[in-house]
Amino acid sequence: MKGFGSDNHAGVHPELLKSIVQANSEHAPSYGTDDYSDRAIAKFKENFGSQTEVFFVFNGTASNVLSLRFLTERHESVLCSDVSHLNLDECGAPEFFAAKLITVKSTEGKMSLSDLKTSLKRKGDQHYTQSRVVSLTQPTELGTCYSLAEIREICEWAHAEGMRVHIDGARLTNALTTLKCSFKEMTTDLGVDVVSFGGTKNGLMMGEAILVLAPDLVGEAKKKLKYIRKQAAQLPSKTRFIACQFERYLSSDLYLEIANHSCDLAQKLYDGVKSVPQVNITAARQSNAVFVTIPKPWVKHLKEKYFFYVWNEATFECRLMTSWDTTPSEIDGFVNLLREFSETK
Ligand SMILES: Cc1ncc(COP(=O)(O)O)c(C=O)c1O
Repeated sequence: MKGFGSDNHAGVHPELLKSIVQANSEHAPSYGTDDYSDRAIAKFKENFGSQTEVFFVFNGTASNVLSLRFLTERHESVLCSDVSHLNLDECGAPEFFAAKLITVKSTEGKMSLSDLKTSLKRKGDQHYTQSRVVSLTQPTELGTCYSLAEIREICEWAHAEGMRVHIDGARLTNALTTLKCSFKEMTTDLGVDVVSFGGTKNGLMMGEAILVLAPDLVGEAKKKLKYIRKQAAQLPSKTRFIACQFERYLSSDLYLEIANHSCDLAQKLYDGVKSVPQVNITAARQSNAVFVTIPKPWVKHLKEKYFFYVWNEATFECRLMTSWDTTPSEIDGFVNLLREFSETK
């Protein structure tokens, strides 16, 4: 059954599956010393800047947690939004492996600079953890995007306060479709220090990459991060099967094709559900997610045909997510069903 549960529910994009099959035809050295890894790293450097250091890992949680482990000492903390994946959906791994999280109030998934400023407390107080990193999610868990100006001002403030900026970019490519810029313009050029770059949610079978962007962190990353990754059991032996997918994903603009498809269909979904009486949009549509409240009695029946998640059980706010393989007819089918409910219930 296809639905709007998550881009994680979709299979592997055929081009990326093909890249795995091609990489399967021969032997290759292990642990990232293969040609596929070299070529994928070159693609990341093209897109994020030549200084970029790349560390492939298996999943997004590891990408986040190891980035933070790299950026913090044991007595330090991370400012992140109250609705962030880091805070709500990683089973405490960031705090177990890296640092205490200090949650910051969010609006439509985003932290404002003024709320960040209020959350930075007790600098120099030996009784309190010292905030060392600001972690943003782009696009946010509510599908909204920080603008380039917002990222820039957060980076400038964080750096002035002696902090680093990390982006959880599990779906970073989707933000390009709203911000109409390059990866480098959204990150490196604004002062972002480290990115967790997502693959799995964007059509890969699995695989994520930690990107160290700040030139002054590159030397330390080379010395430290590979050991941190191995100690955390996240060094893939057959790295080529992650690298070959990233090489293909970042070639020939496949990444944009996939992101444009998911986001265009999310817009179609947004327009469709918006026109149905009793269904209310709750957040701006800026990536591949649409957030709506749906009358409670409809939800069970709708989910039997098109699966999706109820995001907030109290308000029946639901998350509808598209992916690389969503089709226009699935959206029409879902919207027609909603319309039938609104006319008969
Ligand atoms: C924004 C965000 N960050 C990180 C992750 C973690 O990814 P994984 O499930 O691969 O650990 C997810 C997964 O849904 C996510 O949505």
